[in-house]
Amino acid sequence: MDKIIVKGGHRLCGNVKISGAKNAALPIIIASLLNDGWNTFHNVPQLMDIESTKLLLENLGAQVETSGHTVRVNAAGLSRHEAPYDLVRKMRASILVLGPLLARLKKTRVSLPGGCAIGARPINLHLKGLEHLGAKIGLEHGYVEAAAQELIGNEIYFDMPSVTGTENLMMAAVLAKGETVLRNAAREPEITALAQVLCMMGAKIKGAGTSIITIYGVDSLAPVTATIIPDRIEAGTFMAAAAITGGDVTLTDCRPDHVGGIIHKLKMTGADITVSGNTIHIVGPERIGSVDLKTLPYPGFPTDMQAQFMVLMSVARGLSIISETIFENRFIHVSELRRMGADITVSGNTAMVKGVPLLSGAPVMATDLRASASLILAGLAAANTTEINRVYHLDRGYEALVEKFSGLGANIRRVKN
Ligand code: EPZ
Repeated sequence: MDKIIVKGGHRLCGNVKISGAKNAALPIIIASLLNDGWNTFHNVPQLMDIESTKLLLENLGAQVETSGHTVRVNAAGLSRHEAPYDLVRKMRASILVLGPLLARLKKTRVSLPGGCAIGARPINLHLKGLEHLGAKIGLEHGYVEAAAQELIGNEIYFDMPSVTGTENLMMAAVLAKGETVLRNAAREPEITALAQVLCMMGAKIKGAGTSIITIYGVDSLAPVTATIIPDRIEAGTFMAAAAITGGDVTLTDCRPDHVGGIIHKLKMTGADITVSGNTIHIVGPERIGSVDLKTLPYPGFPTDMQAQFMVLMSVARGLSIISETIFENRFIHVSELRRMGADITVSGNTAMVKGVPLLSGAPVMATDLRASASLILAGLAAANTTEINRVYHLDRGYEALVEKFSGLGANIRRVKN
């Protein structure tokens, strides 16, 4: 397994281009299952998860072509309705085929994704919603079996604003008979992006981006050409990196309107941030001020940025209280940061972070996608050298991360282990 070596103490300076959003690309590419014909998507990030999605769709009988940052999908040859365990275990977002396959084939068999490092990750809200649309759901041998004579529009209330739950139900409802109303729906930009692509295909959706989404079922959808929105979590990660190194960085090809919660918090730490069109210019402070944080569904501060922000607070002036309200086990990075000298006390879903003047480089272990990025940030700010192991987590969700950090002046390299 490869590892990443970071030598700390370098201010990041320069421009970095933000890639397309993984969590927008996954549902949008899978939505191609809803029509027959060639769908073309541009600005798709080159990531392991995109590769996994290609394999998943090909396994169902669709044709998938990738060239650089463009992915083309044709599901006219859709012939299988099963998403097998060996594909789903690699990428839990595979459960997003549930809605489209039910809509197209009226039956599907998808391996239960199981939990992951950050939590149990149940899909009960997905399944309850599909039952409300008329699907019969069975669970056996670790698989979800779902079938429906036809899908009938209905009112669905989410106990929690589940992102992929909202996406699955939107993709099931677009071909259902009649009207579906999703209440307490997720409001993330990735939901709005998916709804826009579905509407381009001919779907009738109102309210995406709010907590009430209304979908009027249509008989069929047509293939489209669309461009994936920039990755707001990658943007937040680079802003945090600029802040922690006292750097001067300009992010290009990003969507400042998608990172308002992150900008707000970083400004409170003392960073100077200006926005112009699709660029964000950030200058880090001499010493970071401590700020309390609570992760929330969008437009609140995103849970996918919690680990990165905790690194910032670990070298801030003062005490910060960080509450993780979305996932039950998303403090795994704490033990790794402690090995670098961070002073963090965890009680339940709350971490108390006492800033120290400087972290010290150490060998550390990546445990999940976003935590692995936070360890790079820690290495950038630490004295001497940090070695990050199990970096395959990074390959799932960050495109050319080492190259991008090198381009900003970081002393960082990836070595084959
Ligand atoms: C999406 O996961 C993202 N993944 C996650 O990003 C992100 O952290 C998460 O949303 C929250 O923003 C993709 O979009 C592919 P949820 P998702 O359903 O949809 C509970 C990354 O690093 N819940 O919004 O799986 C759940 O346990 C990943 O890119 C149920 O109880 O998250 C969690 O506590 C990590 N039952 C909360 O809701 C359900 O049926 C939010 O989960 C569904 C969810």
